[in-house]
Amino acid sequence: MAESSHPNQRRIVVGITGASGAAYAVRVVELLAAADVEVHLACSDLGKRLLIEELGIKRLDPERLTGGYPHRLVIHPGNDVGAACASGSFQHDGMVIVPCSSNTLSKIAHGLSDNLVQRAAQVTLKERRPLVIAHRESPIGLIEIDSMRRVVEAGGIVAPLSPGFYLEPTTIDDLVDFMAGRLLDVLRIPHTLDIRWDEHLENR
Ligand SMILES: Cc1cc2nc3c(=O)[nH]c(=O)nc-3n(C[C@H](O)[C@H](O)[C@H](O)COP(=O)(O)O)c2cc1C
Repeated sequence: MAESSHPNQRRIVVGITGASGAAYAVRVVELLAAADVEVHLACSDLGKRLLIEELGIKRLDPERLTGGYPHRLVIHPGNDVGAACASGSFQHDGMVIVPCSSNTLSKIAHGLSDNLVQRAAQVTLKERRPLVIAHRESPIGLIEIDSMRRVVEAGGIVAPLSPGFYLEPTTIDDLVDFMAGRLLDVLRIPHTLDIRWDEHLENR
């Protein structure tokens, strides 16, 4: 698919890697579908394993991933560094890696691209498109901090998976939505999730 099907169709690349928090990834894909965004999905081998371990998702089923919304979801083989979104010529509105492992973070920070997630991130950075890295690991050390610094200096955005509690969440879904909504905010994709502090203040 060389071009988005509609001239005004937004297009986002989503990478899933082997860090904890697969629920965030599925929710982000679902929200992008709900916003009528064309999604190009790449999943590392360990990302696939985390989908199985945490959510029991054994197969990348478009219907399951998009929550039943009408969708334009293109699932690329995770090791195909020749896929469309591996090229800098691929036109898109940004990439989010959610969850992003320390491994993938460090590879991107040092210009390595052993799989499609890393390669798509590398070209997103060099083409100066938004790259959002939703990292998950705790605690982190100097290597992760240094990799984050390098990615940010190269134009990327690091958005650690650390949901806030000030909206008084009562379920895990609330926490997942908080983070998924913030990731869409950073990508400038509209959503209707109730995650705004100002609206919370008005309703108190
Ligand atoms: C169940 C499970 C949970 C993991 N959780 C994390 C994590 O939260 N953060 C992280 O950086 N790595 C985590 N790892 C380790 C990564 O999966 C491992 O470093 C892997 O090489 C990452 O590969 P990828 O970056 O290509 O997906 C986890 C591994 C497993 C099996």
